[in-house]
Amino acid sequence: DTDTGLVVLTNREPYVHDAPNDVTKPVGGLTAAMDDVMREIGGTWVAHGHGRADFDVTDSDGYVTVPPDDGQYSLKRLDIPDQPYEGYYYGYSNQVLWPLCHEHVDRIRASPDDWTAYTAVNEQFAGAALDALARQDDDTALLWVHDYHLALVPELVRRQTDGDVTIQHFWHIPWPPAQLFDRSPHAAALLTGLLGNDRIGFHTHGYAQEFLATVERTLPDAEVDTDALQVTHEGRTVEVYVAPVGIDTQTVDNLAESPEAERFWRDLREREGIAPDERIAVSVDRLDYTKGILQRLDAVEHLLERDDSLRGSFRLLQKGSPTREQIPEYERYQRDIFEKIRHLNDRFGTEEWQPVVYLDGRYTRAEISSLYRNADVCIVSPLADGYNLVAQEYVAANQSASGALVLSKFAGVHTLIGDDAFTINPHDTAGFAAQIEAALDAPKTERAERFQRMYEQVAASDIGAWMEHSLGQWSR
Ligand code: G6P
Repeated sequence: DTDTGLVVLTNREPYVHDAPNDVTKPVGGLTAAMDDVMREIGGTWVAHGHGRADFDVTDSDGYVTVPPDDGQYSLKRLDIPDQPYEGYYYGYSNQVLWPLCHEHVDRIRASPDDWTAYTAVNEQFAGAALDALARQDDDTALLWVHDYHLALVPELVRRQTDGDVTIQHFWHIPWPPAQLFDRSPHAAALLTGLLGNDRIGFHTHGYAQEFLATVERTLPDAEVDTDALQVTHEGRTVEVYVAPVGIDTQTVDNLAESPEAERFWRDLREREGIAPDERIAVSVDRLDYTKGILQRLDAVEHLLERDDSLRGSFRLLQKGSPTREQIPEYERYQRDIFEKIRHLNDRFGTEEWQPVVYLDGRYTRAEISSLYRNADVCIVSPLADGYNLVAQEYVAANQSASGALVLSKFAGVHTLIGDDAFTINPHDTAGFAAQIEAALDAPKTERAERFQRMYEQVAASDIGAWMEHSLGQWSR
């Protein structure tokens, strides 16, 4: 159903057509979660994307129905010229807002042109949102804007509608401390853009409170009610809500037990020469400096130094996906990871055994689930992370096995399952190594009990609950 009244706006598109019948899905939590929602509800999704000169899959208005094998909603690809796109995406979004919100101030690279580009692209998205809204035939349309790329859109759209559209936003990444955000020269403009919403959602109470504290600090005219989670600004009240994103637990569980997953795991074991009694840790990340991958490798090195019985009997399978490679900080980070893995394998490896196996390439969801299903431990160690889907998928996929989760206290999802995970601070190498060891050595019954409790939390706070939180008030 494509005209349900719901219009979704994100930077990243959920499907990429490489050919009319060759469609891939990007890596990243936001598109995965929203694709589940859109399959269920239908509507229109507007995102950045290019058509192709050699084929056209769109209708006469430029919309394509997706998923390709099972059309459930419409996708509008917004073709944006390289300039301003690069200044908006590689510049302002990912070299200013991303490091700012993850508190990596030293990685911020700001240029006035990037802000201009960010503004221009937000205007283009706002125009596309208005077009998509005009195609909806009822007067209860809802515009749902996502993430840090599109902070100015809500106010731009509001200015051009007469109040019959509800506008809401979900901020998928952390909201940093107020005194940090307030240092941005664009703090007031970004907040004014966001206050064009009727509602703004965050994954945790901590982020919501920091957002309100930022409004209070940066916009003296706004009235903030921290108990009611509301802001009154320019005569309108904006509601802040807390709704942690979840996964479709049943689907992940089924995928993990599928023949495809089993086959994949068997082949991987054989190819890497993994012995039956070897204990396996798994990590799955975009190669992003917020994910704490170098800190994780340091902890593994410390562990192998300290406990030589683990040499030959333990390994880390690191699945990585390159990301945002045109940005120097990302390129450097990738290089540092590969160097560190080489160093670890040179230092401890033998002919039959390497402590770290780097897994490259595109994996299907079933293949990723097979890693989760078969791992003794999953390590999720971000320095900052909005929420984190990997930890939840591991819990869903490994439920009936006997795993353990090593989880950073800086991941948003730690507020949900932190009590039963093996909690780490990724900056504390010795403590981190000790927790990996504790997770590996915990008695079977303890692991099972912890896992059961985590599973219950993850299942209760699944994608359906997020959808209900986010869309429950909207009368269709
Ligand atoms: C995070 C962001 C998303 C983004 C994803 C992948 O999850 O919150 O907005 O889509 O990373 O990053 P990319 O830059 O490839 O879209």
